[in-house]
Amino acid sequence: MPVHIVQHPIVQDTLLVLRDSRTDAPMFRRLGARIAVLLAAEALRDLPVEAASVQTPLGEARGHRVASDVVVVPVLRAGLGMLDGVLELWPRARVGHIGLQRDEMTAVASRYYAKLPAGLERSFVVMIDPMLATGGSAVAALDLLRERGAHDIRIVCIVAAPEGIALVERRHPDVHIYTPVVDERLDERKYIVPGLGDFGDRLYGTF
Ligand code: PRP
Ligand code: URA
Repeated sequence: MPVHIVQHPIVQDTLLVLRDSRTDAPMFRRLGARIAVLLAAEALRDLPVEAASVQTPLGEARGHRVASDVVVVPVLRAGLGMLDGVLELWPRARVGHIGLQRDEMTAVASRYYAKLPAGLERSFVVMIDPMLATGGSAVAALDLLRERGAHDIRIVCIVAAPEGIALVERRHPDVHIYTPVVDERLDERKYIVPGLGDFGDRLYGTF
């Protein structure tokens, strides 16, 4: 199973502050954007490039430029907390939105919104959703992306649970997952333990 644990020290330090229940919403938002930049840099490591050259003031310099369309797909609403970070890294990315909401009793995700760019079959797609818990939301989003033609897809999250990873592996075995950590388990409400709580609520102060 292609799970990439991002060990960068700044990622791991930032994750610890995000987990801390004393971190307030303004700081949580800043750190969510910061960790997203670093995680996205890992997820974009395999972006196709092509040879190119430019004229410097002193001569020709040969190098490479990105040769693929990039589509970033935040899963609403918590994924929005990572979007600015990813766009800071790659401003040319196109953005698709998928709105999913877990039922509070059953934890089953249902879709309330989707707006995706055309031409996904030619795009390098990065789906961003900070919490991979049961994996139900991720699989619903991946199913939709596939239906719309995407096949080159990876997921970036901030905390993953073993259950979520197992479900994605079963349903979408070719999708790579980038995360700083795989936590212990889910609790009876299907929250990740120790996790960081409800990401969307901490991001937007909706307690
Ligand atoms: C959270 C989170 C994921 C989902 C993960 O969203 O942002 O999308 O739960 O859980 P799962 O792996 O069990 O599906 P939530 O449905 O709470 O909505 P929100 O982002 O609007 O807060
Ligand atoms: N969604 C969250 O925001 N947190 C969890 O622990 C699980 C789902």
